[in-house]
This record gives sequence, C-alpha cells and structure tokens, in this order.
Amino acid sequence: MPRVGSAGYLVVGALTLRGSGAWRGFVPPDAPFAIVDLPRAARDRAVPVLKEGFVGIYRWHAKRKLFESETVRAATKSGELLGFSILERLLPEVGYVYYIAVGAQSRRRGLGGRLLDDALGRFRADGVDVVYAAAEEENHPSIALFRSRGFRTVDRHETGWREGGLGATGLRTRMMVVSGEVLMGLRFPRQPDAPTPGSSPSASAGS
Ligand SMILES: CC(C)(COP(=O)(O)OP(=O)(O)OC[C@H]1O[C@@H](n2cnc3c(N)ncnc32)[C@H](O)[C@@H]1OP(=O)(O)O)[C@@H](O)C(=O)NCCC(=O)NCCS
Repeated sequence: MPRVGSAGYLVVGALTLRGSGAWRGFVPPDAPFAIVDLPRAARDRAVPVLKEGFVGIYRWHAKRKLFESETVRAATKSGELLGFSILERLLPEVGYVYYIAVGAQSRRRGLGGRLLDDALGRFRADGVDVVYAAAEEENHPSIALFRSRGFRTVDRHETGWREGGLGATGLRTRMMVVSGEVLMGLRFPRQPDAPTPGSSPSASAGS
C-alpha cells in the first residue's frame, strides 16, 4: 500500500518482480518504496550509495553537498536507503539537481526516474521555472535519466533562462559545471494563470 513521506510527498512503488526467487542481496524490487526528506542528522545513511555512485573529486564534492545542502531526498524501502537526490535552489525561479544516485544493485528499476520526478514535483510546486542538472559527457545513464524527463542539453551561447531560453550565464559557476560536463535544462510549461514576468498590475497601469 502506498505510504506518504514525512513532507507529505508522493510515495511510489509499482515495480514488477520478474521471475521468482532469484533476488539475493538487495531489497526485492516489488516492495513499495518511499521518497522522504533526509534530515542532516541522518545523511550519513546515504554515504554507502554515494560511494557506489561517485569516485574521485566527484565523491568528495557529493559528500560535501550531501551534508551542506538544504534538501536531500531519499528513496527507502523496508528501511533501507536505496538512492538519494541533492537539490538546491539557485534563485527563486531556478532549481538545480546537484546529485542523484541509486545503489548499484537497485539501478535500472525506475528508482532514479522516481527520484527525479519527486525533485521536479517539488520544484514545480515551489514556483520554479527552470531546472538544471550537469553530468559528465560520458555518463550515459545520467544523461539518459535526465533526457527521459524532458531535459535537453544547454548550448553555451543560447538565450538566457529569463528570456525564455535555457542559457545559464552567471549560474554555471554556482553549479560548478566544469570542462567535460554537459549542462542540461528543463523549462516547466507555463501555468495558465501565472502572471507574465514584468507584467504586474502596477507595471501595466497607466501605460
Ligand atoms: C544515473 C542513475 C541515478 C540512474 O538511476 P536508475 O535507477 O538506474 O535509473 P532508472 O532505472 O530510473 O532509469 C531512468 C531513465 O534513464 C534511463 N537509463 C538509466 N540508466 C541507463 C543506462 N545505463 N543506459 C541507458 N539508459 C539508462 C532509463 O532507460 C530510464 O528511461 P525511461 O524512464 O525512459 O525508461 C544511476 O545510474 C546512478 O546512480 N549512477 C551513478 C551516479 C550518477 O552518475 N549520477 C548522475 C550524476 S549526478
């Protein structure tokens, strides 16, 4: 039965067990999993998954962000932490998926996608317009994950996000995008009742 996470967010778990009895050493994929906030005091629980997901400087940096960032979401099943996302708001309108990782034995079962859906749902509910993520050029699983949710590669010279493009000039440094990485972005479709930027009633009055 679906459960609700501590922040009231959707809890998912509709994976299908293929075959029978062959699953060893990890939580069965047919059990429901929850996506919940991971408070700072509990973030060391994510370190084993982090170590499976990242090496070298990325491991060091992901660990730092794990404990530093405002929001960490964890996918758990039967009390076991199977994956996590580290999320930041660069500006009120701009969200950033800093890191997302799933334990090696739990990959390719939809968990990374669910974590990303959860992140996008939160950003959207919080009024974010544009979400970015970065990945190493050769990290095909990561690029495939973001593409599967509508992200596209951001051209370095394209129109800025405020003007309707996905250009991220001025934000790349804060995102720590380095050579050899691709920046990906997603713009949420405009809500029908959302005001057009710069067209507040006071701005249009008397014009
Ligand atoms: C990237 C990562 C989080 C994906 O997690 P996952 O649970 O395996 O992903 P999912 O099973 O939910 O797949 C999500 C989508 O990505 C695609 N995808 C995931 N891994 C893939 C792979 N190895 N090859 C091709 N496509 C892949 C899936 O096809 C799926 O698309 P669909 O929904 O259209 O079918 C996981 O591989 C991981 O933890 N990697 C190490 C850490 C990392 O590099 N993180 C990303 C950079 S921050």
